[in-house]
Formats: sequence, C-alpha cells, structure tokens
Amino acid sequence: MKMGKMGERVKSQGYFGWFIVMVVLGVVAFAVVFTYKKKYGYLPGTVSSKYGDALTVAMQFFDIQKSGKLVHNKIPWRGDSALNDGKSAHVDLSKGMYDAGDHMKFGFPMAFTATVLSWAILEYSVHMNAVNQLQPAKDSLKWITDYLMNAHPKHDVLYIQVGDPVADHKCWNRPEDMTEKRPLTMVNPSKPGSDVAAETAAALASASLVFKSSNATYSSLLLRHAQDLFVFADEYRGSYSKSIPEVRAYYDSTGYGDEILWAASWLYYATKDSTYLDVVTGKDGQKYANWGTPTWFSWDDKLPGTHVLLSRISFFGLDDDADIDNLNEYRRTAEAIMCNLLPDSPTATGSRTEASAFLALVFSDYMLTSETQKLECDTESFSPSDLRKFAKSQADYVLGDNPMKMSYLVGYGSKYPQYVHHRGASIPADAKPSCKNGFKWLKSHKPNPNVATGALVGGPSKYDKYIDSRNNTMQGEPSTYNSAVLVGLLSGLVTYSSVPKFFL
Ligand SMILES: *[C@@H]1O[C@H](CO)[C@@H](O)[C@H](O)[C@H]1NC(C)=O
Ligand SMILES: *[C@@H]1O[C@H](CO)[C@@H](O)[C@H](O)[C@H]1NC(C)=O
Repeated sequence: MKMGKMGERVKSQGYFGWFIVMVVLGVVAFAVVFTYKKKYGYLPGTVSSKYGDALTVAMQFFDIQKSGKLVHNKIPWRGDSALNDGKSAHVDLSKGMYDAGDHMKFGFPMAFTATVLSWAILEYSVHMNAVNQLQPAKDSLKWITDYLMNAHPKHDVLYIQVGDPVADHKCWNRPEDMTEKRPLTMVNPSKPGSDVAAETAAALASASLVFKSSNATYSSLLLRHAQDLFVFADEYRGSYSKSIPEVRAYYDSTGYGDEILWAASWLYYATKDSTYLDVVTGKDGQKYANWGTPTWFSWDDKLPGTHVLLSRISFFGLDDDADIDNLNEYRRTAEAIMCNLLPDSPTATGSRTEASAFLALVFSDYMLTSETQKLECDTESFSPSDLRKFAKSQADYVLGDNPMKMSYLVGYGSKYPQYVHHRGASIPADAKPSCKNGFKWLKSHKPNPNVATGALVGGPSKYDKYIDSRNNTMQGEPSTYNSAVLVGLLSGLVTYSSVPKFFL
C-alpha cells in the first residue's frame, strides 16, 4: 500500500503517545493504590480476607446460642432445646437466643443484640455479602425477631424473660438437657418497662428495614409490632428495673429515656413519619439526649448509638423540613464522642470498647460517603481515615495484636481461649448430665471439648492480662450482644466502600 509508510509512522507515533499515557496512568494508579494501601491496609473495593475470615467466625456464635427447634443446624454439638418455653402462657417462646454461657433468655440484651445486628446489616450488607455472611446474619436476626414478636401477644404485654436466673445458675448442663421450670416474666401497665419495650421496638423497627426487600409481609409485621410497642412504652412510662427489681442483678437498666429516643429514631427511619422525629427533637430529646455529653455505647446506654444514628440526617439530608437545629445537636454530640475515642485527640479519654469502635467506623463512613473531610476536636482536626484506623486497631487488638498475643475471638487464629465459660461448650455432646452432676465439667481442668466458635470473651484486664479459666466469668464469658457489635465492626472492615445514604 502506498500510504503504508506514512500510515506506519503515524501509527508508531500513536503507539508512542499511548505508551506515555499508559506510563503516566500506571504511575498515578500505583501512587493512588500505594497511598490507599498505606492508609487503610487494603485496596478500595477489595475484600480483606483477614476481616472476612474473622467475620465468618464471629457470625457462628449466634448459631451456638439459638434456642428452640433448630433449622439447618451447623453446630454438631448443638440440638433442639427449650421447646416448651412460653407454653404455660400459650405463646411460643421457644426461639430466641441464650444471652451468654447460661440458658436464660433475657429480653433486654437480646433485643439490643437484634438492633445492633440490624444496624450492621443496614450499613454493611454489601460488605457482608462479599464474604457470604449476609444470609447468615439475616437468619440469626430473624431467629430473634420471631421470638420478640411472639413475646408481644397483646398491645400492653411483653414477655421480657424466660427462665429463673437463680435456679438456672444452680445448674451446669447442656441446654438440650434442661429440666428446670422456665417461668415467664412480663411487663404490662401495672409493671411498666419503657426501656425493654422501647428496645424491643427499636429491634423490630430496624429489622423491618432489613427484611423490606426480601419479604414485605414479614417486614410490615415487624413494623406493626414495633409501632405498637412504642406506644405501650410511651404510654406507661417506667423502668423495668423499678417495676421488677429482681432484674437488677442481671441486666439493670439505668433509665428508659435513651431507649425512647433510640426507638423513635429507628421508627423514623422505618416509617419516615416525622412524628417520631418530633420525639427526638422535642421535649423527650431535650430531657434525655444529654446533648454535648458523650457516654459509652452498651446494652444499657443507647445514647451514643442514637447520636451517631441521627447524625445520618445531618450528613445525608432529610425529605421534609423537620427541626434541623436540634437534630444537629445529635451530630455535634456524635462528634464529641468521636473526639473522645481518637487516641491523638486533645479530648481523648481512656476506655474504649468494640462497641465504640463500631460507632467510630460507622461515623467515618458517614464522613466519607458525604465527602466530609474533617472532624474538629478542640485544636486538632481529624480525617475519616483517622477514625477508621482507630476502629481497625480495636479489631486488630481483639484478633491477636495484643500483649498476650491471643485472639479473644474463639476459633480465630492459632491461640484463643480454651476454657470459655459456656455450659454447652464445656460438656461433651454425648454426656447428658442432669442439672447438678454437670458441675464436674465446670471444674474440669481439661479444655472445653466443644469450640464455642465466634464467642467473643469478656477480654483482658486493663493491664492486658487474660486468665483462661472456666470459672473466670468476668473475662471468659461471651455474650450475644458483644458478638453483635463485633460483627458490625468486622463487617465494616471487610471492604472499603461507601454506606447507603438512605436505608431504603
Ligand atoms: C414472608 O413472611 C411471612 C410472614 O412471616 C411468611 O408467612 C412467609 O412464608 C414469608 N415468605 C417467604 C417467601 O419467606
Ligand atoms: C478457678 O480455676 C482455677 C484453674 O482451673 C483454679 O486454680 C481456681 O482455684 C478456681 N477458682 C475457683 C474459685 O474455683
């Protein structure tokens, strides 16, 4: 061809131009990837196998804690238990989860477990799905919400406990072999419990969002119970710790104001009904929100969670024009909480938990998703990646980056507690001891015959010491609510991407 040569020349110039472009792009990409990797430990959008593996381990604890007739049971040493729970009152309370190493079903922490699990799913479903943990999370959540709805058979009746803790603690056997009486405890108009009723409302409202796309019928059933329970909690105000003083020895509630605000927030997201926002911005908000005063997120104190959850509205906007002024108080308080958590902040405080790390991660993702660059803490400012780094350090500590070089998540890593305070795990599955003659397994010096995979133990003392002994309940007893916050924390770390601006 005549044009051959010229064509070739043009072409080769073209190749050369492209070559330069490719080199430049390559250098830029390398720089971006390198700084990203340095900042976050892994690349955007890629899945961290470390946190993915840890999440897969942590999620299994909920299967271990399930009561009732098990479906697709994956735990070889677990079986059906507590099938008659609730029968004396003609309600089916067989499902739900044992709260810790014993066989009590305590509604207050169980509902909190469900609320946190819902929250984690709503923020991080994409992350969970990337490591096949979304369905297990939803299954575990439903196991609790099925129970909570059955525990609410009438407008103003909520069963808040199954089992007698004094009798239960006199036994050491497997849940499958329980023979003790399983008395029921309720709140009602003469024994109100706004804290436990509102927490249950929060659990059911948040779960209604989780199940909205997969089962609209189930979702609206959850929402109906949630709204009804909120009315009950609001109408008959009182703390269950005052109405039923016996609960103080186990899950003592220091007040119900936080649960009222927390439940109203979840109900707002679930319904978009601004009357729920009026609760948090109106006189209940003014009375109970403790604006400006950071506290620690726990099964008793929902305020830090409420502050962070409501800061979503300041970050991502609102459909209607509600009282934005007071809403911003929640965000300001959430910022103060973050400033307390960041180790290098001028307002840093000492104690930190997995629950605060989960909040820090969620807040950092709100900042990132809304392209908020800075968090001002007194004289210093911090970036979302500072918060993420803090959250990651807490997770890493739990997973073995600690002076004991031990993973406090059972089943993760090569060194983890062997004497977890957990009846089912401590007794061989083929031994079927009665209430009393199982105590030899508590006292045994041999490690647990069954691995309580996913159990997050109470953890080390403030001097980083951990005594791995079955009778060390303070350090060695796991709980479902601590697992729920860990699941939230690990989910957020699985991959690095934005959170949904609106839950639905
Ligand atoms: C959806 O939820 C309803 C109410 O719990 C239940 O009866 C139905 O079987 C569920 N549907 C599916 C497809 O799971
Ligand atoms: C707890 O267990 C440890 C080790 O198994 C033992 O040395 C200690 O005496 C036990 N303490 C009690 C109070 O039983």
